[in-house]
Amino acid sequence: MDGVFDVIVVGGGAIGATSAWRLAQTGRRVLLLDRGQLGSEASSAAAGMLGAQLEVSEPGAFYHLCLESRSLYQDFVDELLEATGVDAQLTHNGIFQLAYSEEEVRTLQTRMRWQLDAGANAEWLDAGTVAEQEPVVSPCLGALLLPDDSNVNALLLMRALSIAAHRFCSVVEGAQVTDIQPQPGGGYSVLTPTGHYVAQAVVVTAGAWAQALLRPFATPCTIRPVKGQLLAIRPRRGRGIRRTLFSEDVYLVPKRDGTIVVGATEERDAGFNRDVTIDALMTLLSSVHRMAPGLKDAVFERSWMGLRPGSPQGQPWIGEVDGAPGLHVAVGHFRNGILLSPITGLMVAHSVCHEPWPTRWQPFHVARVHRRNEVSLG
Ligand code: GLY
Repeated sequence: MDGVFDVIVVGGGAIGATSAWRLAQTGRRVLLLDRGQLGSEASSAAAGMLGAQLEVSEPGAFYHLCLESRSLYQDFVDELLEATGVDAQLTHNGIFQLAYSEEEVRTLQTRMRWQLDAGANAEWLDAGTVAEQEPVVSPCLGALLLPDDSNVNALLLMRALSIAAHRFCSVVEGAQVTDIQPQPGGGYSVLTPTGHYVAQAVVVTAGAWAQALLRPFATPCTIRPVKGQLLAIRPRRGRGIRRTLFSEDVYLVPKRDGTIVVGATEERDAGFNRDVTIDALMTLLSSVHRMAPGLKDAVFERSWMGLRPGSPQGQPWIGEVDGAPGLHVAVGHFRNGILLSPITGLMVAHSVCHEPWPTRWQPFHVARVHRRNEVSLG
């Protein structure tokens, strides 16, 4: 055996590294295992949008979870800066959701109304105001401005989380977990090809790779990779964008280094394929050309891909698994792993420390969802 810990966290993306760091802050001895390098998968592929209002199409618990996590972000990145010296470049520049058809106008205005009713900030801007504020954009029918949605540099966030994890936890990279075995006296043995580790508690935060690890346990989790391809462009001087621009086809996220991240495909049948394809890049670039023709002379910088941990509703399962004391999950964050990292870290810490969850988090509890599904099947 290669080590005994209080908690082993399996998967070192933003969710896993945040959870490991929060658990270490409770005084526990934490081991963080990653099959590659910390953050080398979906987390550093992300465009870094913190679209709490953008990404949710109806009121409810998930909307509030997203808002709660967004509200934690400034303190989260400040604490990381203090602990690691790395600034994740949280930028409060808001998001424009652009409408190009009457149907999109109706959908966005409906969204604006329920979000205003729920107490959030949202504003409808007419076409002229959009053109004035973002001159590179093609004529549209108006835009929903979500001023409190923001963005972070996902690469820098991951660098900060990686430093924090290395400083406060034990970390083993290049350790692909092959099995999690319950021990006769309680706790779990976590197996990798190069060693095995034992802890009373295990937290599975393995992103798109979580499903295979959870198969032996009774969970409701069905996680499938959803491939996203992205690219970065550098606009000519004076032709940038101020806010994140989002349309049905494409989104553009301005970064502090002057580049714009363009995302993203959503490929549900690509499995674990890692190719960056001409087809996908052409689709994204044609969409940029249509939505923001003022960027047509921008310089292409690079392209990449990531595998989102897809879940049927796009919502995570978090907490201790039914019938498996000490086994916890934080999986299925789909498009919102970066946004939901701060709140998920808290939820995991509460779960492992057996501190009660507030009611508002309950709809995401893995055991509760499991029992609800069992009842409806029965
Ligand atoms: N968070 C946006 C995306 O997954 O494309």
